[in-house]
Amino acid sequence: MITLKSEREIAMMHEAGKLLASCHKEIRKIIQPGITTLDIDSFVEDYLRKNGATPEQKGYMGYKYATCASINDEICHGFPRKTPLKDGDIVTIDMVVNLEGALADSAWTYAVGNISEKAKRLLDVTRKGLYNGIEKAVAGNRIGDIGHAIQSYVEAEGFSVVRDFTGHGIGPTIHEDPQVPHFGPPGKGPRLVEGMVITIEPMVNEGTWACRVDLNGWTARTADGKLSAQYEHTIAITKDGPLVLTEQY
Ligand code: MF3
Ligand code: CO
Repeated sequence: MITLKSEREIAMMHEAGKLLASCHKEIRKIIQPGITTLDIDSFVEDYLRKNGATPEQKGYMGYKYATCASINDEICHGFPRKTPLKDGDIVTIDMVVNLEGALADSAWTYAVGNISEKAKRLLDVTRKGLYNGIEKAVAGNRIGDIGHAIQSYVEAEGFSVVRDFTGHGIGPTIHEDPQVPHFGPPGKGPRLVEGMVITIEPMVNEGTWACRVDLNGWTARTADGKLSAQYEHTIAITKDGPLVLTEQY
């Protein structure tokens, strides 16, 4: 069931989103070779709590951390850990902020030190793919229009789109209807209407889109061991078009 949010609910989710965006901007300042993803995770938890918010992922379906931290060939749901990040790594930090009951969800892939030209291009294409999808998040379009815009652009650039994980509606809980695939034909799926709030979060792979899940039951990684990147925003469908609640400006 797709629920619609009031202007007041969207305004509150926007506050959560602004806090989340500022947290990503802080991460950008501290990320460098030698830092661990567990360091980043505790930084995020402190930062959110200091600002009156809580990390919604912690405790969600038994998940233990404030963030997901997915390095290189890890697609999503990587566990924060003690291994220092190395020059040339890419790492996706994904978090859900709860500010007074309002949620926002946003992931960002960071370059650690100097990364290869290929990795830079993967990051650029993934981020641009997200924004191409966001452009289609307007009332009257269908959910499928979003995924089609992302997939056609990403594949034309020679990369692939992960099929096993999708964006989602978000409201009082993290995952609500509808699912938002980042691939597929246009003109299909539920119609977008004012008041819907969804995430768009394409995971883009350098090689095959196929993935494997680790024995920990959570972490997905590319089947061929090549790189994967992800950018995610929470977006409200408004009468004035898509409103990106987690925009970093
Ligand atoms: N932010 C993730 C998403 O986009 C949430 C992952 S679920 C968790 O859906 F358990 F890892 F928190
Ligand atoms: Co999400």
